[in-house]
Amino acid sequence: MATWSNLNLQNGASPLMEQMIFFHDHTLMILIMITILVMYLMMNLFFNKFINRFLLEGQMIELIWTILPAITLIFIALPSLRLLYLLDELNNPLITLKSIGHQWYWSYEYSDFNNIEFDSYMINNNDLLNKFRLLDVDNRIILPMNNQIRILVTATDVIHSWTIPSLGVKVDANPGRLNQTNFFINRPGIFFGQCSEICGANHSFMPIVIESISMKNFINWINN
Ligand code: CUA
Repeated sequence: MATWSNLNLQNGASPLMEQMIFFHDHTLMILIMITILVMYLMMNLFFNKFINRFLLEGQMIELIWTILPAITLIFIALPSLRLLYLLDELNNPLITLKSIGHQWYWSYEYSDFNNIEFDSYMINNNDLLNKFRLLDVDNRIILPMNNQIRILVTATDVIHSWTIPSLGVKVDANPGRLNQTNFFINRPGIFFGQCSEICGANHSFMPIVIESISMKNFINWINN
């Protein structure tokens, strides 16, 4: 989860989030290289006394500074496309979780298991013993780690967005539409997310919490 003054991405808890962090760092390195190069060139242009009264055109330099950025963009575009298609790949999901956005809470359905369903409301500020303010919910999502999990996302009233930064998941919840995504949690733990589509007055108060546990404990939970 995000803690005080963390300005970076949260630690990835799924292979796809790891790939996204790699891509972010890769793109940032290219950005830094470009920024430094442009700063150096501008400094050189500002602080010299060169004058060329007959300079009208330079075919070769224009060719170079058109092609070089194009090649740079390819180095960003290709990994980006790879990641985009990887994110959409669904590989034999073991469990399907349906999450439904409401104003202002989420409700969940485990369609595989006798259709277990429950609502998930944010914890009130007055009942915060051992809970995280504005982030915790009364009924958490329980999911087994090291399994491919499919998420179906929809809404009943307005557009919400089911978002968990550490898992690299962000899917809009639209009324009348069923969106699909998937993830693979690679460790036990509690993962926090928030709605990230401006959905009305209490938009900030519909958090998402996933408890990632072992398969054995998950089966125990399902049986209860
Ligand atoms: Cu639901 Cu913002």
